[in-house]
Amino acid sequence: MDKLIITGGRAISGEVRISGSKNSGLPILAATLLADAPLHICNLPHLNDITTMLALLRCMGVGVTIDEKMCVEVDPTSINDFTAPYDLVKTMRASILVLGPILARHGVANVSFPGGCAIGSRPVDIHLRGLEAMGAEIEVDEGYIRAKSKGRLKGAHIFMDTVTVGGTENLLMAASLADGKTILENAAREPEIVDLCNFLVAMGANIEGIGSDTLTVYGVEKLNGCTYSVMPDRIETGTFLTAAAAARGRVMLKDTDQHMLEAVLLKLEEAGAHISTGPDWIELDMKGNRPKAVSLKTAPYPAFPTDMQAQFTAMNAVAEGTGTVIETIFENRLIQIHELNRMGANIKLEGNTAIVTGVEQLKAAPVMASDLRASASLVIAGLVADGQTVVDRIYHIDRGYECIEEKLQLLGANIRRVPS
Ligand code: UD1
Repeated sequence: MDKLIITGGRAISGEVRISGSKNSGLPILAATLLADAPLHICNLPHLNDITTMLALLRCMGVGVTIDEKMCVEVDPTSINDFTAPYDLVKTMRASILVLGPILARHGVANVSFPGGCAIGSRPVDIHLRGLEAMGAEIEVDEGYIRAKSKGRLKGAHIFMDTVTVGGTENLLMAASLADGKTILENAAREPEIVDLCNFLVAMGANIEGIGSDTLTVYGVEKLNGCTYSVMPDRIETGTFLTAAAAARGRVMLKDTDQHMLEAVLLKLEEAGAHISTGPDWIELDMKGNRPKAVSLKTAPYPAFPTDMQAQFTAMNAVAEGTGTVIETIFENRLIQIHELNRMGANIKLEGNTAIVTGVEQLKAAPVMASDLRASASLVIAGLVADGQTVVDRIYHIDRGYECIEEKLQLLGANIRRVPS
């Protein structure tokens, strides 16, 4: 297992290109299973989770060809197996996203039941109830979700009682090939859902209400091939901005989009950052100042994203003042605070609330990543800590950040990867 070794205290300043979005690339790759012809997906990030999704498509018989720019040609017409096996699903919960598309296109799907993970129990009941409302028969047998439908799925009126990104995506994909009209109420509105809708429309789907919490899908009989470029990664964008803010630095991010992270930019401004933006770039400059602690509460888009909570907790750990961080999406997503406290942070945990009182200086320590965004927070802490921080279990970070150490090196960080 590789480790990252970070010597903190270096000035952070420079320019970085933002990669394509992981959380958009995954559902888009799953949605290719709906088509009757080959498709080209571009701007995919080179990440373990994307590789796992491509492996999943391949193991079902789907043709996958990748060029050197991570433009992927997917030929779903050669599919010959409708199973997402345990070995792949256990490494990536987002494998559940193939359930809706395979079932809608082929009338049968077997997907290993995804378990919980470090950040919480993460059920998929809303995915399954929605598919049942569309006429699917579903049973769970030997750890597998076995779903089938007689003929096409049927359009349905579905109210989701929790806002779920993956649930909305699965049902949206299934509805696009269903017979008749589906209304998805209380749908997630994350930019990645909009990207998936735009992709489905490019394949020939008929969707109204894109970007709102009520999606109306008029099912079509078939979906076609197309070429599509995945949106920029808003969480990678937010992570680099927050790292620069914590380090009192300056960063220029290219190939990104300010509109998809307004809540994050507002909080960074509240922390004292000077932010300027253009059509495809964002610049943050702390002008050498220490950030001010900010309070925040995570909630579904357009509110503050849970995927940025850990990074802001790390920034607050070195900020001036006290900030309260409330996590409302996942029950166990404040676990990184124990590692931050080992680096000298002053964070108290009360239920789902972290009360973070900034300290002048964190101290380096060996720390262990527990999940993807928690590992990003430890890297941020390492960048500003005094001494050499060793971040272990960085396979988590490789699931979501393309070339993290190369990009941070470009900004002047002293960071390197060592095999353990
Ligand atoms: C996606 C993102 C993840 C992000 C999360 C919330 C991907 C690949 N991952 O995860 O990075 O942190 O959205 O923005 O896009 N829930 C249920 N029943 C369900 C489904 C979800 O109760 O059937 C609950 C979950 O336990 C959680 C909440 O709904 O408390 C939100 O989860 P959800 O939006 O589904 O997260 P994911 O799609 O798994």
